[in-house]
Amino acid sequence: MQYKPLIIANWKMNPQSLVEAKRLFGSVKKGLRNIKRTEVVICPPSVYLSDIKNQAAGIKLGSQNCFWEEKGAFTGEISAVMLKKIGCQYVIIGHSERREIFKETDEMINQKLKAVIKTGLKPILCIGETGEEKEQEKIVSVFKKQIKIALSGVAKSKISKSGFCIAYEPIWAIGSGEACGIDEAMSAKLLIQKILISFLGKSLTKKIPILYGGSVTSKNARDFIDEAGMNGLLIGGASLNSQEFIKIVKIVF
Ligand code: 13P
Repeated sequence: MQYKPLIIANWKMNPQSLVEAKRLFGSVKKGLRNIKRTEVVICPPSVYLSDIKNQAAGIKLGSQNCFWEEKGAFTGEISAVMLKKIGCQYVIIGHSERREIFKETDEMINQKLKAVIKTGLKPILCIGETGEEKEQEKIVSVFKKQIKIALSGVAKSKISKSGFCIAYEPIWAIGSGEACGIDEAMSAKLLIQKILISFLGKSLTKKIPILYGGSVTSKNARDFIDEAGMNGLLIGGASLNSQEFIKIVKIVF
């Protein structure tokens, strides 16, 4: 199956002001005015979403996280329903920084995934191993556990319609300047697909885009798509530099 490459910018907790966020978004938008063959998604900090939404035109918006309940006494949280109403289409779930710093478990990620799908937003499920798990050759069991629990109790028909995708982000490659090797990324994709087939079957698995994230730059972006066969990229640091991000999107298609 041929996918439109999906290029997602995860701005994380940057930039520090709305003025800078609008400037960055405006510059990306200007540089990507005529890009039609790639789906570009920007995930800014949620406080900037509504302002950025007003200038979005063609670029999709995503959230870096959400809570699983729709409303109520959950101080500090934002629901999938709220994100949808503000104009988001995608939600990143289970990013390793959320797993590590905010102690999100696979079970919590499962609840978030269900909420995102129920709301009609597209979930981007992040999975990946630590450097230690890689050294100890635990990748298979790490992927299996992360995928199995995330998908538990989610009907196949719902996954199929949701636009669900998986982002493989090896934790050791995030922000380290040391991206995953192309062969490694290729085998990670095959492994993810094998695990997905065991839970969802072949035909549904074929429809699920697998993205790569971790120290992506304009120098290695194309290889992840062309050589490793990734269906898209999840970009952190390089997405904060508009010219570099534009370059990556242009290189990819
Ligand atoms: P970097 O591109 O900065 O390595 O971050 C990757 C990432 O965590 C995207 O979600």
